Amino acid sequence: MIDKIKHILEEASNFAAKTQEEAEAYRLKYLSKKGVLNQLFEDFKDLPSDLKKQSGQKLNELKEFLNTKYNDFKTSLESSPEKATKKDLSLPGDQIELGSRHPNSIVRNEINEIFSRIGFTIAEGPEIEDDWHVFSALNFPQEHPARDMQDTFFIAKDPEILLRTHTSSVQVRLMEKTKPPIRSIMPGRVFRNEAISARSHCFFHQVEGLYIDKNVSFADLKQTLLFFAREFFGHETQIRLRPSYFPFTEPSAEMDISCSICKGKGCNICKHSGWLEILGCGMVDPNVLNHCGIDSTIYSGYAFGMGIDRMALLKYQIKDIRILFENDKRFLEQFASTI
Ligand code: DAH
Repeated sequence: MIDKIKHILEEASNFAAKTQEEAEAYRLKYLSKKGVLNQLFEDFKDLPSDLKKQSGQKLNELKEFLNTKYNDFKTSLESSPEKATKKDLSLPGDQIELGSRHPNSIVRNEINEIFSRIGFTIAEGPEIEDDWHVFSALNFPQEHPARDMQDTFFIAKDPEILLRTHTSSVQVRLMEKTKPPIRSIMPGRVFRNEAISARSHCFFHQVEGLYIDKNVSFADLKQTLLFFAREFFGHETQIRLRPSYFPFTEPSAEMDISCSICKGKGCNICKHSGWLEILGCGMVDPNVLNHCGIDSTIYSGYAFGMGIDRMALLKYQIKDIRILFENDKRFLEQFASTI
């Protein structure tokens, strides 16, 4: 018996399993019900007791050896590269879906980029604002009907707190904390209590522009806006300024561009006028400068504000503003992923 055990031990030591099949052959030969080990245990039962003593220990050692070796085969095969290569490496990989930029982000980035080229920095302010920054500092008198121009969402508990109705509030914040010269644009989301339709939404986006320095004139404003319009809408674009009213600018104007779609000939988009209104602007009212701690006898400036969503609708000829905020992948996938 002892010789037999020795022989099997030797033989099993030389057994190498490089594949699952070989490991299985090993198990069948040595460890299965009808395998060598069980057979030895059967024979062991019939041994006379003095021989049992000698061979019992050897037999247990053999059992231990055979089992350990089998477990080693299994672990090394599981982690071996041969097993990994059993996968079909020629199969196509899982597709990685690339997101795309929202049309509003594309337009905002483009506006930011155009104004950065002529020295404007970018500033931001809070969406939840107070009455001072949205109205009072901007020369909207208390109870003045001009406040009705913008249907405001107030916080029920405190009418001093509201959702900003325009990004002009960021002008105020900027002037309060910075000394002139100031040359910034301020993109952001604004809120108005308006019925949602194809043309208006209860939230949308604006970019505010502000330039404060000594001797800033209306001509500077006009030239800056012409530069912007031509960079954004194309070099043949014409602009026209119409007198208007805003409490925070004097004089105030609205700017139209020659229709970028029909090139001024008249189409559905420009309602056959050849012109599209794109922004409000004007010279900052001296009261506003004074409210913000800037001496209006030394400094002057201009400001303008335009709707980002409106620009996106024009640029991509989208007819309904609501689609911008519906998160419909079929719509969003159509825009570039990089700009
Ligand atoms: N805040 C105005 C609006 O929401 C837009 C605007 C008009 C901004 C004239 C300006 C400006 O800075 O000068 O309708």
